[in-house]
Amino acid sequence: MSASDVQAIEVRGLSTRFGETVIHRDVDLDVEVGQMLGLVGGSGSGKTTLLRAIVGLLVPNKGSVKLFGESVFDADPTIRRNLRRRFGMLFQQGALFSALSVYDNIAFPLRELRVLDEDMISELVYLKLGMVELEPRHAQLMPAELSGGMIKRVALARALSLEPELLVLDEPTAGLDPDLADNFVKLIRMLQKELGFTVVMVTHDLETLAGLATRVAVLAEQRIIACGTPAEVLAVDHPFIRNFFCSEHAGAVMQKGIV
Ligand SMILES: Nc1ncnc2c1ncn2[C@@H]1O[C@H](COP(=O)(O)OP(=O)(O)O)[C@@H](O)[C@H]1O
Ligand SMILES: [Mg+2]
Repeated sequence: MSASDVQAIEVRGLSTRFGETVIHRDVDLDVEVGQMLGLVGGSGSGKTTLLRAIVGLLVPNKGSVKLFGESVFDADPTIRRNLRRRFGMLFQQGALFSALSVYDNIAFPLRELRVLDEDMISELVYLKLGMVELEPRHAQLMPAELSGGMIKRVALARALSLEPELLVLDEPTAGLDPDLADNFVKLIRMLQKELGFTVVMVTHDLETLAGLATRVAVLAEQRIIACGTPAEVLAVDHPFIRNFFCSEHAGAVMQKGIV
């Protein structure tokens, strides 16, 4: 297999359960390098749990997850650590460390590397702050002093601090007003064009999905029931897909927004 054939994400036969409750049954998922995959599914269907398994935060009961051809559950801590630097995450809960300033939040992953001096870290922090369209003066603020939209931007700056090849987003626009959500989607799209990273994103927001996703995967009945381009997924006959995409409004959004 040549390097260009390596998938950004390859999930095979993934099964997870909590106690007696089965969350995923034999899930397969492929995400090619450079794609932006939107993962949708009902509330409690296991989307966040799947993202956690993809980044190695949760060990599944069965199956494998590879990122860029390397197993996230590899026994070798060096391989895991190297892999850890290749993705950034923006999760719904705990987006920022509340006791650290904006500066220290963005610097955190850079300091963890233990190879950069403080001048270099400072340069990178201000660079990332600019990338997410915040100003240098925002660096000294504490998370409690930020608006919802600014918190998302700082969390994005932190997720991008190690220049990841894969960005994992869980409900990136949840809790934002439509205008702010739209701005945030545009920002991610612009950065993705510039930097070329792969995106896997959970969202229940159709505008976010239409604005970002080049491909869509649908999680229902413990498995991926459809995965493909938005048009391919819309054509699948399944009650969840009908409800989620096929209202008049949803149809219009998806038609307008397919990227
Ligand atoms: N750590 C956990 N322990 C037990 N149950 C969990 C845990 N995490 C999630 N669950 C349960 O697994 C199901 C899927 O959760 P989740 O992946 O968060 O769903 P989604 O993100 O699709 O809304 C839910 O019923 C949730 O309550
Ligand atoms: Mg969730």
